Amino acid sequence: MLEIQARSGVGADVDGIDLRELDDAGHGALSEALARHGVLFFRDQNLSPQQHLAFAARWGAIDVNRFFAHDPQHPGIAVVSKSPEQVDNIGGGWHTDHSYDQTPAMGSILLAREVPPRGGETLFANMNAAFEALSPGLKRILCELNAVHSSRHVFGTAGLYARAGDVRMNNAELATQDAVHPVVIAHPVSGLPLLYVNRAFTLRFEGWTDLESQSLLQFLYAHAARPEFQTRFEWRPGSIAFWDNRSTWHYALNNYHGHARLMHRVTVQGGALERWRP
Ligand code: SIN
Repeated sequence: MLEIQARSGVGADVDGIDLRELDDAGHGALSEALARHGVLFFRDQNLSPQQHLAFAARWGAIDVNRFFAHDPQHPGIAVVSKSPEQVDNIGGGWHTDHSYDQTPAMGSILLAREVPPRGGETLFANMNAAFEALSPGLKRILCELNAVHSSRHVFGTAGLYARAGDVRMNNAELATQDAVHPVVIAHPVSGLPLLYVNRAFTLRFEGWTDLESQSLLQFLYAHAARPEFQTRFEWRPGSIAFWDNRSTWHYALNNYHGHARLMHRVTVQGGALERWRP
């Protein structure tokens, strides 16, 4: 029987389900749970790559990431890997996937294929709780603002990965996206307000200089990363985290040097983001 156990901070653990045999009732229950909890954690889901893609396709079209290496047989599967010799990991800072796109991805489904003996956890943070904990005065200001997001400084020809010569990312010349989104968006299902800026991809507030933007952005990043808005997921082979990119941030910990970690990520397309109106 399906059991959904909320965590403190963000997310819920889901038991009693085999994702290879998801029926319409199960899909409805998981959709409702994802909108409510922001990220769902599953154990012992030994999905083949095709089953991983089929599960993701229940939620929408696959949003193929243009920069990540892909599983050679399955272009819809992005490979998130670190070998024992590599020092940097992928996703090792607070971010939400694809916020640099005009229509950012709805969610990502990460499946653990190989995990280190210890470490390699992923942190998640709750962007509704982060917004709600702000003062009424700052909320009012943020609700009127837009922010500029970009992929250039991360994935572009002069970006972080290119400068490090990181062969796990491709197509630097395609990193030309800049997108403007409201700073506070409404969750498309729950209608709840969500803080929608992130340290990795947000550059500035629209109409503000970089310098003017930085102190408020840095405050928001520190505020939203407070431990009480977070949970920490410890991976085992076959574990899955399915997160909503609008309502959560995530952060892959890089605390397992000398060991391999191999994850498969499938990302699901989203719709246009709407400003939240108080
Ligand atoms: C990601 O940022 O999409 C990857 C997260 C992880 O590897 O834990």
